[in-house]
Amino acid sequence: MGIYRDRVVPHIVNVACGMRANDPLRERVCAGLSGRVVELGFGSGLNVPFYPPAVQSVSAVEPADLGWKLAAGRLASAPVPIERAGLDGQSLPFPDDSFDCALSTWTMCTIPDIASALAEVRRVLVAGGTLHFVEHGLAPDPGVQTWQHRLNPIQKVLAGGCNLDRDIRGLIEDAGFRMREVDIFYGEAGPRFIDAQSLGVAVSP
Ligand SMILES: C[S@@+](CC[C@H](N)C(=O)[O-])C[C@H]1O[C@@H](n2cnc3c(N)ncnc32)[C@H](O)[C@@H]1O
Repeated sequence: MGIYRDRVVPHIVNVACGMRANDPLRERVCAGLSGRVVELGFGSGLNVPFYPPAVQSVSAVEPADLGWKLAAGRLASAPVPIERAGLDGQSLPFPDDSFDCALSTWTMCTIPDIASALAEVRRVLVAGGTLHFVEHGLAPDPGVQTWQHRLNPIQKVLAGGCNLDRDIRGLIEDAGFRMREVDIFYGEAGPRFIDAQSLGVAVSP
C-alpha cells in the first residue's frame, strides 16, 4: 500500500485533479486569497496558476514527495515564493497567527484526522483570516448519500485514503469557523457520488 500510495496515487491525482473541468473551480476558490497563504495538500501545485496577485507567499503542506516533484514546472514559473514548509496538515509546524489565508482543494477528503487539521488551520490563521475551500463530500440527496456510504471503503483503498462521505460544511463549522459563503452543487466531471462539491470561504474567529 505504501508503494501504491507514494508512487502511483500522486500521478493519478495529477491527472484527475488536473482536468480542465476543475479550472473554473480553482479560479473561484483562489479569488480573494491575499498575503501569506498556507496551502493544505499542495499536491502537484495545480492551484499555482490561479493565485491572485495579492498573494505574497505560499507555505505548501504536502506529504507526497512525488507530488512535490511533479510540481516542479509550476513552481519554476510561480509569480510568488512557494516553499514546502510542512508534511502533515494534522500538525502544522507554524506559530499561531502566521497566515492571512488558507487554501484547501480536494484535500479534506483524505487527511485522516480532519478535525485536528481544521483546528490547526484555525490556530495558524490570524483572527479574521479566511479558509478558502473546494472539496468533494457528502451529497445533498439521501439517495446519493446511501451510495457514498456503501462505496466509501472501496474508495479509501483505491484513492489513497480519500473519503466520499465527509460533511465538509459541518466539519468546518464544527471547527469553529464562521461560514461566509458556501455553494454546494454537483460538478460536471463525474458521477454524483464523487462529484458533490462544496466551495466556499470560512472565517477564523
Ligand atoms: C486529491 S489530492 C489534491 C491535491 C491538490 N490540492 C489539488 O487540488 O490538485 C489530495 C492531496 O492531499 C495530500 N494529503 C494527504 N494526506 C495529507 C495530510 N495529512 N496533510 C496534508 N496533505 C495531505 C495528498 O498527498 C494529496 O496531494
